[in-house]
Amino acid sequence: MAKKFLIFGGLYLLLASIAVGFFILTGKLTTQHAILDPLNIAEGKIIYEQNCASCHGIDLKGQPNWETKRVDGTFPPPPQNEDGHTWQHSDRQIYSYIEEGGAYFSPPPFKSNMPGYKEILTSKQIWNLITYIKSRWPEEIRKRQTAANFAGGFGHH
Ligand code: HEC
Repeated sequence: MAKKFLIFGGLYLLLASIAVGFFILTGKLTTQHAILDPLNIAEGKIIYEQNCASCHGIDLKGQPNWETKRVDGTFPPPPQNEDGHTWQHSDRQIYSYIEEGGAYFSPPPFKSNMPGYKEILTSKQIWNLITYIKSRWPEEIRKRQTAANFAGGFGHH
């Protein structure tokens, strides 16, 4: 009798931990894949306008000739809309680029003007930013970027 209880008790614990594990995992996945929630988009827009618009443009169009290296070795800020290549990266890669800044990922002689924001923005704010940027992409581009997410993301640049 006691043995039976032990077996069922063990089974119950196992199922409970699988359930908890599942919720932790799905919670993680939803934050990583920036769900287009209107409140998050609204917050992301404000953060974008305060921190990013000066370089990437209030309209997300970036600076002219963004694909051409300047004489000082830096590149002009690229668009964040569908004209740029942000959407060719997975959510994780976009997140890390904003968190660490450009220099972290590109060893010299590459010179980056993209600042890192990990001391300035919380992780939630960065995800809301990404959500806002995504909300400005056409549906088709969003679908292609989602595919990149699940494929593990394209290579960098
Ligand atoms: C001082 C100008 C400047 C500011 C401010 C800035 N960026 Fe950038 N950003 C750049 C430049 C320049 C690049 C091009 C790559 C490089 O030089 O590292 C870039 C690249 C990026 C990329 C990678 C694009 C790609 O296609 O690989 C993302 C994403 C990005 N910025 C998002 C942001 C966000 C979000 C903010 C605001 C939190 C922001 N940037 C603020 C200058 C800036």
